[in-house]
Amino acid sequence: MIEKNGIVVSVEEIQADIFILKVRSPQIAVEEKPGQFCNIKVSDSTFPLLRRPFSICDVEGEVVSFQFNIVGEGTKILSQKQNGDILNIIGPLGVGFDFSGDFENVLIIAGGIGAAPFPFLIKNISDEKNIISFVGGRSKKDIIEYKLKNIITSTDDGSEGFHGNVVQLLDSEIDKYDSANTKIFACGPNPMLRALSEYTIESGFDCEISTESVMACGFGICQGCNVEGTHSDRFLLVCKDGPVFNAEDVKL
Ligand SMILES: Cc1cc2nc3c(=O)[nH]c(=O)nc-3n(C[C@H](O)[C@H](O)[C@H](O)COP(=O)(O)OP(=O)(O)OC[C@H]3O[C@@H](n4cnc5c(N)ncnc54)[C@H](O)[C@@H]3O)c2cc1C
Ligand code: FES
Repeated sequence: MIEKNGIVVSVEEIQADIFILKVRSPQIAVEEKPGQFCNIKVSDSTFPLLRRPFSICDVEGEVVSFQFNIVGEGTKILSQKQNGDILNIIGPLGVGFDFSGDFENVLIIAGGIGAAPFPFLIKNISDEKNIISFVGGRSKKDIIEYKLKNIITSTDDGSEGFHGNVVQLLDSEIDKYDSANTKIFACGPNPMLRALSEYTIESGFDCEISTESVMACGFGICQGCNVEGTHSDRFLLVCKDGPVFNAEDVKL
């Protein structure tokens, strides 16, 4: 984990309210693993006080990318950054995806801005694997396809792709895949991850989920990001034990 000042290279609105922020930070770029995140101080003042956590979206040489939507003040400030601005970043943080197994099919399940960590995961997965991205959103405008591969979409309102949620979309396609030869990686709102976890546990598919929680410190000190574990009485910390967990290991 490193605290460093990075230099903003660009902030681009790739579709309505969805931004890619690129920051030159050689030390952090070299350490990053897919699924990890950084805690970013979005302004030089004391407002907002807390840093904001963002998944690593991609790494290109010395440049780290983040993908975000505007939720409140912190993300609004980030969207207004200019080239050359300095950002104080702590990272890489947390436990990322485990994509080391001997499986052939990689199913990516992304809900809304949950698409953020997958460009870097896809880049790091062998070209020999069969990668399919299931991308869901409430409506067509919420579908984010940035640097994803072999995309199938779903929308709750039926304005694009499969009419339904992304877990229902997965269910409609799952017969094509053998659970012994397939691993699922997911990120999205917690209700989506909860439904997906129930589905994959019941159907016997190995699944890792990248979870969200309100965070303060980002590295295990404040205990503010705890989540209930499945296998022991101990609470798990999203920032330190996660944000990526096996679907069987947490109760969302
Ligand atoms: C591990 C992790 C990775 C994330 N990766 C991404 C990403 O790649 N792209 C993206 O757009 N968003 C990501 N988020 C969510 C992002 O951190 C929040 O949307 C952001 O902090 C909102 O800040 P704000 O000031 O704009 O909104 P605020 O007005 O402060 O808050 C609006 C809502 O955002 C959430 N939030 C606020 N502060 C935090 C915080 N410190 N930690 C977590 N949630 C918070 C709360 O639910 C709050 O109700 C991630 C969150 C976590 C925990
Ligand atoms: S954010 Fe402080 S312990 Fe996780």
